[in-house]
Amino acid sequence: MILLYMCCRLFFSCWVFPMLAYRKLKKNGLHGPSPSFPFGNLSEMKKKINIKSSSSFGSNSNIITHDIHSTLFPYFDRWLNSHGKVFIYWLGTEPFLYIADPALLKKLSTEVKSKNWGKPAVFRHDRAPMFGNGLVMSEGDEWLRNRHAATPAFKPTNLKAIVTLMVETATKMVDKWTTLIDSGTREIEVEKEIKATSGEIIAKTSFGISYQSSRAGLVFQKLKALQMILFEPNHFMGVPLGRFLHPKKTLEARRLGKQIDQLFISIITARKQSSPTTPPWHDLLGLLLQESGTRELGSFTKGLTTQQVVDECKTFFFGGHDTTALAITWAMLLLAMHPEWQNQLRKEIREVVGDKQIDVHMLASQKKLGWVISEVFRLYPSAPNAQRQAREDIQVSDKVTIPNGTNMWIDIVGMHHDPALWGEDVNEFKPERFKDDIHGGCKHKMGYLPFGFGGRMCIGRNLGFMEIKIVLTLILSRFSFTISPTYCHSPCIMLTMRPSFGLPLVFQPLY
Ligand code: HEM
Ligand SMILES: *[C@@H]1O[C@H](CO)[C@@H](O)[C@H](O)[C@H]1NC(C)=O
Ligand SMILES: *[C@@H]1O[C@H](CO)[C@@H](O)[C@H](O)[C@H]1NC(C)=O
Repeated sequence: MILLYMCCRLFFSCWVFPMLAYRKLKKNGLHGPSPSFPFGNLSEMKKKINIKSSSSFGSNSNIITHDIHSTLFPYFDRWLNSHGKVFIYWLGTEPFLYIADPALLKKLSTEVKSKNWGKPAVFRHDRAPMFGNGLVMSEGDEWLRNRHAATPAFKPTNLKAIVTLMVETATKMVDKWTTLIDSGTREIEVEKEIKATSGEIIAKTSFGISYQSSRAGLVFQKLKALQMILFEPNHFMGVPLGRFLHPKKTLEARRLGKQIDQLFISIITARKQSSPTTPPWHDLLGLLLQESGTRELGSFTKGLTTQQVVDECKTFFFGGHDTTALAITWAMLLLAMHPEWQNQLRKEIREVVGDKQIDVHMLASQKKLGWVISEVFRLYPSAPNAQRQAREDIQVSDKVTIPNGTNMWIDIVGMHHDPALWGEDVNEFKPERFKDDIHGGCKHKMGYLPFGFGGRMCIGRNLGFMEIKIVLTLILSRFSFTISPTYCHSPCIMLTMRPSFGLPLVFQPLY
């Protein structure tokens, strides 16, 4: 009986349900070639295409190309050519609607209230050890409440104190670099350095603990291990029972997830035992704990449960430093390739900051730095895509309805590199695009989405932008830098977009 039941279940989940979903999509006017089960298009996505690999991704800065979409996503690039900017593909037995069409996104975000968006169930499940049901993954009323609870942590009055902390932390990093350079080391692997600094910033600003504290250090170490396991190209994503094909990894991910939870529970306990008058109670952790009603661990009476607080902590710990650090890293690469922009920014720093301590108002006056960062986000968006799942039928036009349950994959890199939206110079670094237009002259407002879109747009975007400005300002005012001959240009996706082999740069002191 049990065997029969298992077989039936497998048959339904591998074939009947996906086929029904496919029929429904087709009936509703959405097309794509018929899928094969149970692997869908994974085999084609697995194939490595070497059109632009090693040979032109060389070590010489003269041949670093920013035309990265076809290298990162050869399959999407091919399907874009054959199927257009909206089509269906299959991650195993899960149909995904691929979207690189800003007009459709505009339509979707006017049709659907932010509360009614879901996140794909496959990802919610696979990524649970990392994000739990934190803000990135939660839905409906739970999402709405937690978003409201977290929002005050990012309000302007809080940002002022945060600026001071950011300056202190980043100054420590450039001091360390100065010591290294003075002692004869010219080459520094900056990705690792920046990652540690932005980790320390999020730990201090949101949780009131230091990166050096053993708990925070362990959390970062384990989050990194988890990221390696969860986001190395997984050929069985979305295949029913796929997790049983990689039992070792699935177990390891769960184990790491539990250990991270434990670390956060001890961080939370320590906070509760500290005197409630000790600042900063208005930081993110403080706000979450207030929302959890009674401050007893394990309280399920009202507000957030302990597990919910832990999930939000995980989400912010990871989301708060990885994307920001990568944006700074890519900015360093682009500035190393463009010394003329380094000089322009230094001139602006002299005019705006001079010898004074950086504050919020100065950051707002650093216009050119703002254009440079926006252009970095366009060419190398550290969050390369956004995902949604429909929780209701969405009427897109007379003929087309996106049925309840449809997964969506929004290709941010694809839109940022689309010549039809940006013109023929789409793959060139031209910060002046953003001079008079916050959308960088993109032909459609929804074609530039470094922080996502709609009500689920990134909650930390102002904080992140501030941090990038501060760190770059401190670096630029002390050193000039060029690309090391050992750098190999090979962006890759592990949830976020990173340089595969780090970013070694050669520094010249300016003092
Ligand atoms: C500066 C670099 C950053 C980039 C490029 C970035 C990018 C993004 C993107 C693309 C999304 C998804 C939006 C969507 O699905 O439409 C997102 C969501 C989110 N980000 Fe960021 N982010 C950055 C910094 C931060 C920081 C500093 C924090 C926290 C301190 C943060 C916390 C979050 C959270 C909690 C969400 C989920 C929001 C929700 O669904 O309501 N991010 N981010
Ligand atoms: C997905 O795979 C099927 C075969 O399994 C193939 O016929 C189809 O063309 C692929 N989809 C796309 C979007 O290319
Ligand atoms: C969408 O589908 C889910 C699951 O099948 C169902 O629970 C939900 O009520 C549906 N939503 C609407 C608005 O019909």
